Amino acid sequence: MTGRLEGKVVLISGGASGIGEAHARVFAAEGAKVLIGDIQEKMGKDVADSIGITNSGGQAAFTALDVSNEASWNDAVKKAVNLYGKLTTLINNAGIGMAGGVTTESQASWDKTISVNQMGVWYGMKTVIPEMLKAGGGAIVNVSSVYGIIGSPGMLSYHASKGAVRLMSKAAALEYATQGVRINSIHPGIIATPLAKSMPQAFLDDLVSKTPIGRLGKPEDIARGSLYLCSDEASFVTGAELVVDGGWTAQ
Ligand SMILES: NC(=O)c1ccc[n+]([C@@H]2O[C@H](COP(=O)([O-])OP(=O)(O)OC[C@H]3O[C@@H](n4cnc5c(N)ncnc54)[C@H](O)[C@@H]3O)[C@@H](O)[C@H]2O)c1
Repeated sequence: MTGRLEGKVVLISGGASGIGEAHARVFAAEGAKVLIGDIQEKMGKDVADSIGITNSGGQAAFTALDVSNEASWNDAVKKAVNLYGKLTTLINNAGIGMAGGVTTESQASWDKTISVNQMGVWYGMKTVIPEMLKAGGGAIVNVSSVYGIIGSPGMLSYHASKGAVRLMSKAAALEYATQGVRINSIHPGIIATPLAKSMPQAFLDDLVSKTPIGRLGKPEDIARGSLYLCSDEASFVTGAELVVDGGWTAQ
């Protein structure tokens, strides 16, 4: 099936790489007009340009976006509306992972993780929802993690931020349920992206061994879940959490 996002305009944070890039490609192929927002300008522009070339009718552009800065979100939202006339869809995907335990994480690492992973998601919803209301409704997917559901040692601020994203999504979903804006969270397991590839091989092997399907996920596995959540097929789905983890948290 194609055209499942025909008529939608999507802003994808962190769309220059990994899971965000996969969203840009899948969403454009399904008929959405795409604006990629990222701090990595060259990579983001290259992804947008290649979508124009590889997907017939695909439409994508890039804007500089630092999700930890509310003014930067305001600029990105304005750019989406100027370019495409409206904004209907948000993938709050940009995120970072910092190692650190209860007594070992530095204040700087904690502050950085919370400002990107948690405050970035809030600023995204805060700046985009007014445009969705003007457009008559919209859909938001906030990218959390299985680490927003279960714990692990040594990634304290990451768990704090991803757990917050899970509950911020439900709280916001309830706030906007009667106004046509649906908000859901998605929870990837271990996915083969540059972020994952930067982790030590033994750590990755351990995570794969915990994954019943027995492999790393692909970025497209996550984008295809969000595709459903952002399409009109999911018009009765809000405040839900979609776990895409190869069975990891079913155990
Ligand atoms: N890869 C995994 O195994 C995995 C698992 C669970 C959840 N996630 C989540 O998925 C999301 C995407 O991760 P990924 O694996 O594709 O990582 P990635 O590093 O490949 O991509 C992340 C993108 O976010 C961008 N970014 C970082 N800080 C930013 C900021 N302040 N403003 C705007 N953009 C910024 C980066 O430039 C990059 O393009 C993250 O929220 C991550 O926590 C990933």
